[in-house]
Amino acid sequence: MLATGVMRPRKITKASLARAASALRAGRLVAFATETVYGLGARADDPRAVAKIYAAKRRPRFNPLIAHVPDLAAAKRIASFDARAEMVARAFWPGPLTLVLPLRSSAGVCNAARAGLPSIAIRVPAPKQARDLLRLAGVPIAAPSANPSGRLSPTRAIDVARGLSHIQGDVLDGGPCAVGVESTIVDLTGETARLLRPGGVAAEDIAALIGDLAAPGGNTIKAPGMLASHYAPRAQLRLNAGGPEAGELYLGFGGMPQGTDGIDLSPRGDLAEAARNLFVALRDLDGRGAARIAVAAIPEKGLGRAINDRLRRAAAPRP
Ligand code: TXA
Ligand code: MG
Repeated sequence: MLATGVMRPRKITKASLARAASALRAGRLVAFATETVYGLGARADDPRAVAKIYAAKRRPRFNPLIAHVPDLAAAKRIASFDARAEMVARAFWPGPLTLVLPLRSSAGVCNAARAGLPSIAIRVPAPKQARDLLRLAGVPIAAPSANPSGRLSPTRAIDVARGLSHIQGDVLDGGPCAVGVESTIVDLTGETARLLRPGGVAAEDIAALIGDLAAPGGNTIKAPGMLASHYAPRAQLRLNAGGPEAGELYLGFGGMPQGTDGIDLSPRGDLAEAARNLFVALRDLDGRGAARIAVAAIPEKGLGRAINDRLRRAAAPRP
């Protein structure tokens, strides 16, 4: 890999998918669209390939990666599924849900990808092209969001190209992400199911199947995605604001106050639409150079929990 390079967006064709799959097999990085955010993929069984992800993102080594597989059968080769895990997987895969399960065979996912943990985070992404790529690659693909660590996740190929302009590789352009916030992460390694990160599947929908999800346990890893400050734009955020004050732009929801300068995440107050628009709206407002962005209150239910989680981390004081 060259010291400087460029992430080039590529149209998805049979040929570009095949090329991307062989790049992955050869241990190179490929960024690809999932329904949540773009991922920066590398083969999960190869510590040298996985090291490229940590270097490209400047991601702390203690933060484990999610293994992406094309289907439940492939997931079962690397994790043990009990009846509860199998039921949840069948209900929500392919889709924006990541399950943390006991690792079955370390052959498929190297230590570096798991940050040494005895568990493994797995998901089956929804877009057919993503699953085609994973099937062609033939090995689990470790893929964090394709952004520099601590910055906003990319929901368009162009955001990946801009954010990771210091590395070389291809971005498979799958268009804008349909969900727009990262996957929901549920830890099923213990008897108590725990919600590690609210995301694209509403926690209520999982609870309807297996009962209420507990908060992360005391011994849950302190990963950056779970640290107070993450997903940070340059501007300071002020949450639960009725409207902008002098010098602020406004990130609205369900209608903007008269004469307000900013972006409405969803004029009709739809949480799925708001989630889809969240990261692009924050990028746009940030790009206008505002020192402060005031943000409307978002209902704390369904996808609103994921939106509020990202907003709280974006608003938190930087370390
Ligand atoms: O939607 C998504 O999940 C996207 C797309 C690309 O699939 N990926 C993503 O990856 O958001 P990343 O690396 O940005 O976030 C993964 C999170 C991290 O917070 C990490 O700590 C957690 O998953 N994680 C990974 N393995 C884990 C494990 N064994 N136990 C607990 N948490 C784990
Ligand atoms: Mg991330």
